[in-house]
Amino acid sequence: MLITVAGFKGGIGKTTTAVHLACYFSKLGDTLLVDGDPNRSATGWSKRGAFPFKVVDLMQAALYSPKYEHIVIDTAARPDEAELQALADGCNLLVLPTTPDALAIDALLQTVDLLQDKIRDRYRILLTMVHPKPVKMAEQARVALSELPLFDTEIRRLIAYEKASLMGVPVYQVKDRMAKIAWSDYEQVGKEITS
Ligand SMILES: Nc1ncnc2c1ncn2[C@@H]1O[C@H](COP(=O)(O)OP(=O)(O)OP(=O)(O)O)[C@@H](O)[C@H]1O
Ligand SMILES: [Mg+2]
Repeated sequence: MLITVAGFKGGIGKTTTAVHLACYFSKLGDTLLVDGDPNRSATGWSKRGAFPFKVVDLMQAALYSPKYEHIVIDTAARPDEAELQALADGCNLLVLPTTPDALAIDALLQTVDLLQDKIRDRYRILLTMVHPKPVKMAEQARVALSELPLFDTEIRRLIAYEKASLMGVPVYQVKDRMAKIAWSDYEQVGKEITS
């Protein structure tokens, strides 16, 4: 399985998604996380602590990828059209995280417009940083995106993810009463991918 996580907007949970999908797949087989973002957020996260999978940068990917069963690629925000096409061509599934606010949804729709014909059946949108009820933003986002392929699972907005990044570990290793819930969200997304 080769999964790429991408999106136009910054700070919408791409790296957090890539890291936790890699965690999910590492429980199924040897998994590699390719850090395709020049900011090296995933690499930094792993260096502060430890991950249950290897992290390499894009330049090392060709060397390492043949040895791994599952590969997850984290990418930089704002890819241009050519970059986006190349990302889409090079994976089995393109995961497009978005927060449910209008600005992010607009950016997402631009991304999808550029991709539309090429990978209609090979991308899925993931709502991230979803506020708890009674905030209805995610419901409204689902209506706006109703024609597009969305994961049923939503990633809740939880502080445990920031703690995980600071500590350099996956969220399930964080001491936080919501850590297990946070992990169960990404686990559920993983199950949607593999089912
Ligand atoms: N579900 C969530 N709930 C709360 N905070 C989150 C969640 N997902 C990510 N975050 C936090 O939001 C910030 C941005 O997340 P992340 O780095 O994953 O986004 P990104 O899209 O990769 O950003 P960039 O475009 O800069 O690469 C981080 O501080 C992260 O810890
Ligand atoms: Mg990132």
